[in-house]
Amino acid sequence: MATRSNSRLADSILYPFANIGHLTENPPVVVESGEGVYITDSTGKRYIDGQAGLWNVNVGHGREEIKEAIKAQLDRISYYTIFGGTTNMPSVELAERLCQLTRPEGMVRAFFSSGGSEAVEAAFKLVRQYWRLRGEAAKTKIISLKRGYHGVTLGALSANGITSNREYFEPLLPGFIQVETPHLYGNPYTQDHEELGRICADMLEREIQYQGPGTVAAFIAEPVQGVGGVIVPPANYWPRLREICDKYDILLIADEVVTGFGRLGTMMGSRHWGVKPDIMTFAKGINSGYIPLGATMMNAKVAEAFDTGDAAQFSPKAFAHGNTYAGHPLACAAALASLRIVEDENLPENAGRVGAYFLKRLKEVQSRHHMIGDLRGQGLMIGVELANPETGRPFDISRNVGGRISDHCREKGVIIRNLADTFIISPPFVLETGHVDEMVDTFEEAVASAG
Ligand SMILES: Cc1ncc(COP(=O)(O)O)c(C=O)c1O
Repeated sequence: MATRSNSRLADSILYPFANIGHLTENPPVVVESGEGVYITDSTGKRYIDGQAGLWNVNVGHGREEIKEAIKAQLDRISYYTIFGGTTNMPSVELAERLCQLTRPEGMVRAFFSSGGSEAVEAAFKLVRQYWRLRGEAAKTKIISLKRGYHGVTLGALSANGITSNREYFEPLLPGFIQVETPHLYGNPYTQDHEELGRICADMLEREIQYQGPGTVAAFIAEPVQGVGGVIVPPANYWPRLREICDKYDILLIADEVVTGFGRLGTMMGSRHWGVKPDIMTFAKGINSGYIPLGATMMNAKVAEAFDTGDAAQFSPKAFAHGNTYAGHPLACAAALASLRIVEDENLPENAGRVGAYFLKRLKEVQSRHHMIGDLRGQGLMIGVELANPETGRPFDISRNVGGRISDHCREKGVIIRNLADTFIISPPFVLETGHVDEMVDTFEEAVASAG
């Protein structure tokens, strides 16, 4: 039995994706305040936040502009619903702003929810109702990628391609299928990235033919896969996805929960690949996590199916979905303020520039430490995967090498998140090259001490 001296922090909360015994032995850091790229714990110790909260605090902590926007809205009214014939102006203004920001992708309407899983859930219901409204009721299946992450609610989870997320909850929803992802490191097909993109896109096409295109509603993927290990597809992959979806009349959903609003160095992740999806899902960076918010965007093709021109209050064409907190005015006010900062400070550009510097510095570390098996990333979305230099294969999980490196960094005041032996680096976009040097030097020291 674990010692329970510090157990208060772990006694009453069941933490997400965490082992109770581990947290009892290793009490979580109590975060009390934050400013810019830094957070401070209850002992006064300061850390560089290498995960931007949970890849969401993109504009940094403690931004006055966002606090002021929330307070100003709070002084007017804290909440009112957008159901049943009422609305609020922050939600209207934010929807307009999101349509404007995604004009290059062709988005024309926003549907609001409270986070990423809900945004994805709404996307799946939207595509199913869309095909029914279009008279193609058999088009219900959703295809996604192995190692994809789309959230934890049962619909979103059914599209996840991460076995450890899925296994306790099976059987998941019928009609969800995963195909191979173009992940270069360790794949059995080819070491040519573009060739791998072709191979994986062909696998998707064959799966669509096998399922029957008349049964497939949508394909969903992240522009760069995040939780699955920061997997950056080759440049030919997304354009080919678009072609395949067009060929078989399948809607393309870009899950931009992490990549939306600048993380890859472009305002949208899809824009990085030059592709226009039919639907985009947002959360996290939409308001830098100051208040929970999600959004599902749709292009004119999708929106028009729900727009009959008939004025009846209850119509079978109304989207039959919605949560209490849809269009929450505080969350929308925070988003308007956060997006203003993203644009005014040109943060996507900063994410691209500082991210490139980060990768360059990590490459130097990789050349000195054979324990780093793979390094990959785009903008401020970077993955570092360890490999046992003796075998070239992953370390035995019981050695907890990734956990020890992450703990060492934390000890030295740098938060670098590890998922087993893969590190996921996703700092706020206000990061500067000086912070990168501190993070990389600390990381290298931790790698050397774990060897
Ligand atoms: C790409 C992607 N989609 C959806 C989600 C789910 O978002 P949430 O945790 O807000 O439900 C996440 C969360 O990390 C994500 O990375």
